[in-house]
Amino acid sequence: MYGLVNKAIQDMICKYHGEDTWETIKEKAELEDIDFFIGMDAYSDDITYRLVAAACEVLGMEADEILKAFGEYWVTYTAEEGYGELLDSAGNSLGKFMENLDNLHARVGLSFSELRPPSFDCEHTTENSMELHYQSTRQGLAPMVIGLLHGLGKRFHTKVDITQTSFREQGADHDIFSIEYEDSQDHDQ
Ligand code: HEM
Repeated sequence: MYGLVNKAIQDMICKYHGEDTWETIKEKAELEDIDFFIGMDAYSDDITYRLVAAACEVLGMEADEILKAFGEYWVTYTAEEGYGELLDSAGNSLGKFMENLDNLHARVGLSFSELRPPSFDCEHTTENSMELHYQSTRQGLAPMVIGLLHGLGKRFHTKVDITQTSFREQGADHDIFSIEYEDSQDHDQ
């Protein structure tokens, strides 16, 4: 994945657990040769997965918890790292934003030419609920999507309740989430 993702993982770990813990995690992941990640460079996915696995060992946390925390962190991280306008342009409510997310990644792909973005499809079941279909070329990132949705809920001051109803890791074609959210009014953020 692009270095931006690995940088965000580093940033989150340093912020919550300190620089020393980050160095320990980086060593455990056998990445001591990398001095720093370059946001716009494409790295092997293996590096990201190794970082998550090492963080699990060092912090004594499950991968699901780390990925959820990371998903939530990503929403504020990208907003602060130069992608605020892009986030703004994707909509000011959870429903609209999720509809526009594939467009957002397509725009990201204009500068990140090797991007392999996820794909999201929303079926709006009622005014306050949707079925979200998540498709990816990668395995194991459904917990990150749950964290991302919580991060977006905070961004839009919208309460979200998420239940995963279909699991790719259990053989389903793709992951599906059933999401209930409080009727959101448009917010100028
Ligand atoms: C402006 C904000 C954002 C930027 C700049 C951005 C950019 C990226 C980048 C660079 C990757 C790595 C993919 C690769 O290297 O091939 C990625 C992955 C991903 N993004 Fe975004 N993204 C943004 C917002 C979001 C939001 C709000 C969501 C909410 C659901 C999201 C969902 C994901 C997921 C789930 C992945 C993991 C890749 C996969 O599933 O295969 N992104 N994004």
